[in-house]
Parts: sequence; structure tokens; C-alpha cells
Amino acid sequence: MANTTSSSADGEVSQLARDWHQRDHRAVAGVYSRYTDIVLQDAQGSYLVDVDGRRYLDFGCGIGVTSLGHRHPAVAEAVHRQVDSYWHTSVVTEHVRLTEAAERVARICPDPLDTVFFANSGAEVVDGAMKLARRATGRRGIVAFRGGFHGRTFGAASVTTSKVHYREGYGPLLPDVYITPYPYCFRECHHTPAEPCPIAAGEELDRLFQRIIPAEEVAAILVEPIQGEGGYVVPPKGFLATLRRICDRHGILLIADEVQSGVARTGKWLALDHDQVVPDILLLAKALASGLPLGAIVASRQLMDRWPAGAHGTTFGGNPISCAAAIATLDVIEREGLRDRAAELGGRIQAAARGWKEKVGGPSDVRGRGLMIGLEFLDSAGLPDAERVEEIRAACLRRGLLLLSCGLDDNVIRLIPPLTLSDGELAEALEVMESAITGVEVR
Ligand SMILES: Cc1ncc(COP(=O)(O)O)c(C=O)c1O
Repeated sequence: MANTTSSSADGEVSQLARDWHQRDHRAVAGVYSRYTDIVLQDAQGSYLVDVDGRRYLDFGCGIGVTSLGHRHPAVAEAVHRQVDSYWHTSVVTEHVRLTEAAERVARICPDPLDTVFFANSGAEVVDGAMKLARRATGRRGIVAFRGGFHGRTFGAASVTTSKVHYREGYGPLLPDVYITPYPYCFRECHHTPAEPCPIAAGEELDRLFQRIIPAEEVAAILVEPIQGEGGYVVPPKGFLATLRRICDRHGILLIADEVQSGVARTGKWLALDHDQVVPDILLLAKALASGLPLGAIVASRQLMDRWPAGAHGTTFGGNPISCAAAIATLDVIEREGLRDRAAELGGRIQAAARGWKEKVGGPSDVRGRGLMIGLEFLDSAGLPDAERVEEIRAACLRRGLLLLSCGLDDNVIRLIPPLTLSDGELAEALEVMESAITGVEVR
């Protein structure tokens, strides 16, 4: 996440918003920085409404969470029904909503992933998955990828390398974590575009196992099938299948962190489905319950049974209201055909962005799958152009379109709108983006 970026519509801040900022600064920890100066009052469908009644088309979805837009009626109804029934039980009793939600989540996962552990957040499921992997294999090593983002708890921060800011000052972090390059061919690989990527072919992992930790001591390889905070980086075809092969060869568990890319965001239930790769452990959170806190660790019954009863747990995870929201969310995605819709809308956005690239030479790279799209900007010297991204974001915000950025240098605009976006809303967003992007000269 951008450290602190302050933009507001019209560049003006009303007295009302100013008063809220002051109260916020007094009461809320400064470490909890926000992307914009918007003070939210209301949200409905694809729009946010601030305390001054200004509307913003929301292309950030609360960092990839509100994939059905805000307050989808079917989810709202399921939540209301659950509020009138029961709210909490934790591990004191079984409860029917959690069982149903586990069954429903398993239905979107490939065989043999059929068994679910619920937690509250992405970082929690990352931590849980690493514990499961170590416990089940009896091995210590966790391999993760440079540029990855997995969350803020100590465990998750230990495998997060998208920015040093998330790690700085917290050491020592979790031991036996090994970071290896991700095939970010546009910026970080050294082969020509015509050559196959050696990182995607597993050469760096081979070196890691030869030089630093033997493969037999590695419990898990943890990967984002598309890197999120690291810059919306789509790896070359074959990379994920290579990881699967390497894991199989050495008895290593493959953990797919689909906290951001999962739940139909990329046009399929899982980003891994594009490559037909099945991990040993799958992690979901963010969009799973449309904004109510819920994370899921999904694995086969056989693997989950190697995690003894009580060896991991949670007070709030699998909260009944979140479970009700998750069931409704997955039903809506299915009923409204939102996977196909995400693929179709994403295709239209990428085509438009390629047109802007031809017109003004930027963005330098357009990439993504479905509605998880990154537009990377470089300046005329080929260096990351965060300034231009900030100008574009500010120009869009002035015209009521909220965009987020990502990447090590904050030079990637990430487009992550609701899957329920209408054709009219898409046209509105494309028009605003086009004028912001083509109106800013390439330096
Ligand atoms: C891929 C990925 N994993 C894990 C997380 C952490 O999720 P949370 O913020 O819910 O802890 C994120 C959050 O952005 C993420 O993008």
C-alpha cells in the first residue's frame, strides 16, 4: 500500500471533512494510513459517498474486497437473517452456518481440496498455513517470493517482501524463511522477451536447494499466482506448473495465497484455475464474505487430518455473520455469471489501456487477468514513474474515480473494480482514465 497519499476530490477539503480528519488524527493510530482524504459516509453498489455528498466510482473495492459492490442486496439479506438468529459461538459449539460455508467454499475449489479452516483475515490464514505445513511435514523451511505480500502479522510479515517498510524495525522475523525471485519479466528478469524465463523454469529454486537449504528440509513454497501489492505481476505461463512439479518431486507443500486473486476476481474462481494447477493448501480471504471478516485455509481431508485437534484455533474465525455473507457472496457470483463478466470487462479495460499506450506511450505495460489489472508506468529513461501515477490518480479522483496504486515504486495503477460494474459505469471510468492518462505528457 502507498505509505501516505492524500488526494481529495476538487483538491478542496470541506470544513466538515477537516473536522473529521482532526478527530481521526487525535483518536486513531497514525500507523493506520489511508490512500485518500475521503471521509466516507455511505456506500452503495459501485459508489462511495463522502460526508459532503460527493460520489466516487470505486475502482479499489476496499483493496479487492467488495467484489459485489457495496451492500449487495442478497448479501445484506443473508446478514440480516443471521443477525436475527445467532452471532457467535466460537469453538464452544458446532454451528450450521460454518458447516454450510465450509461446504460452499469447498465447491469452488478443485479436487482434492475439500476441507476448510476459517479465520478472520488474510494474514491469519497465511500464518495458519505455514503452521500446518511445518506440523504436517516435520520440516522447517518456508520458501516465498521476492515482491510477495502476505500480510502484517509476524509470520506473514516474515514472508512479505513487496516493500522493506513492512519489515523494517521488526526483526528478528520468523527464521527459516527463504526468499527467491519471482518471474517479473517486465522489470526484473534479464532475458529477452523472446527467450523463456529461467526463473519461471525453476532455475532459482534449484540453486536455492543446492546452495542454501536442501529441498528435503523445505516444508512449503508459498506463492501468489498473481502478485498483488508487489505490482499486479502475472508470471509467465508454466511457472505455477513448474512449482507444482518441484513440490511433488521433493515432498514440499505448495501453498497458493489467493487472498487477493481468488473468488472470481480473475474471471475464474481461482487464479490458479487458468493454469489448472492444484495447490496443497489454498488461502482465501478479502472478497470471500464481501467485506465481513473471513479467511479460509483449504486443503485435502488427508492433509488437514495431519493437523491434530486443537493445535490451531480461533475465537472469532468462522463468525456466523461472516459465514452467512460468504455463502450469499458465492451464490451471487454463480447466479449472476460474474466470473464471465469479470473476464469480459477485464478484456475491454485492457484493450482500452493498450489504445492509450499507442496514443501517448504510456502505460508502458498493461497486464492482468479478469478484473485484476495493472498499468505500469515508466518514464522516458525507463525508470519507474510514480509521479505520473500520482498525477493520474489525483486527476481521476477530482472527477470522481477512485484508483489505487501498487508495486515497489508505486508506479503501477491497479484496477480492481467490482465484478458487478455496469456497462455505463465502465464507460464512465474509461472516459475519466483516458483523459487523465492521455492528458499527462510522457516525460
Ligand atoms: C495476497 C495477499 N495475502 C495476504 C494479505 C493479507 O490480508 P489481510 O490484510 O486480510 O491480513 C493480502 C492483503 O492485501 C494479500 O493481498
